Amino acid sequence: MTSFPITQVCDRFPGRAIEWHSSLDSTMIRAAQLAREGCAPGTVVGADEQTAGIGRLGRTWHSEPGTGLYVSLVLRPNLAPDQLPILMLALALGTREAILSAAAGPAINVDLRWPNDVMLVVDHGTARKCSGILAQLEGTAVVAGIGINVSQQSFPDQLETPATSLKLAGAFATREDLFCALLQSVDRYTTMLAEHGPTAILDRFLLHSSSAKGRRVRVHNAEQELIGVTCGLNPSGFLIIRDDNGKETTVLAGGVRPL
Ligand code: BTN
Repeated sequence: MTSFPITQVCDRFPGRAIEWHSSLDSTMIRAAQLAREGCAPGTVVGADEQTAGIGRLGRTWHSEPGTGLYVSLVLRPNLAPDQLPILMLALALGTREAILSAAAGPAINVDLRWPNDVMLVVDHGTARKCSGILAQLEGTAVVAGIGINVSQQSFPDQLETPATSLKLAGAFATREDLFCALLQSVDRYTTMLAEHGPTAILDRFLLHSSSAKGRRVRVHNAEQELIGVTCGLNPSGFLIIRDDNGKETTVLAGGVRPL
């Protein structure tokens, strides 16, 4: 594994607190610790590998050394707690944009799957997960974790969601270019949320998600399993599903699978 050129990244973001580790249990744990200690907003922690990467819904995040980008940012947004779901959508938009701007090679089709999966459309329209996002409150701070699969050649069979990497999709990006693009695009979308409000984010999410409106899906979470057609997002960023009897349900969490 070539060493990560953290000095070059730091030079491009003077004044920003950036920590890089060759190995960590999880960047979420270290970033949460920094948040509790009062670190500056925008502080970022990254690692070449995570030995206990954390995913959503109690899952783990497969974090093979040197092949993915594993980072957590400490944000101190001036948001009401009920706007956290919208912040998640803003992070997904920022991740999509970073992938598009850093990846070279054949054009890739990057699709967002509510609430926070970034998918690459591979063979015959099949979408596979290339990136996942997690956000948790730490006092008044938000710790946002972003994992992007960059150059993995394969994934364990038992992953909950079939995964892909940029490399498997035929694209090429260095982790450092992706990291720089990610810092810029996350800043752009969090500023957009702060300055223009939730609608700016909701509209863009709908534009870049093929499944958030007008798609037949199955939703599975701890409370329910639902089949219906997606009807877009409510003002808080939650997904609305209309079942075959015309009943609308607001989905607060869970996995959405297009049928
Ligand atoms: C998901 O389940 O889709 C969210 C995955 C989030 C993974 C990232 S990798 C960097 C950060 N550190 C972690 O332990 N998890 C997040």
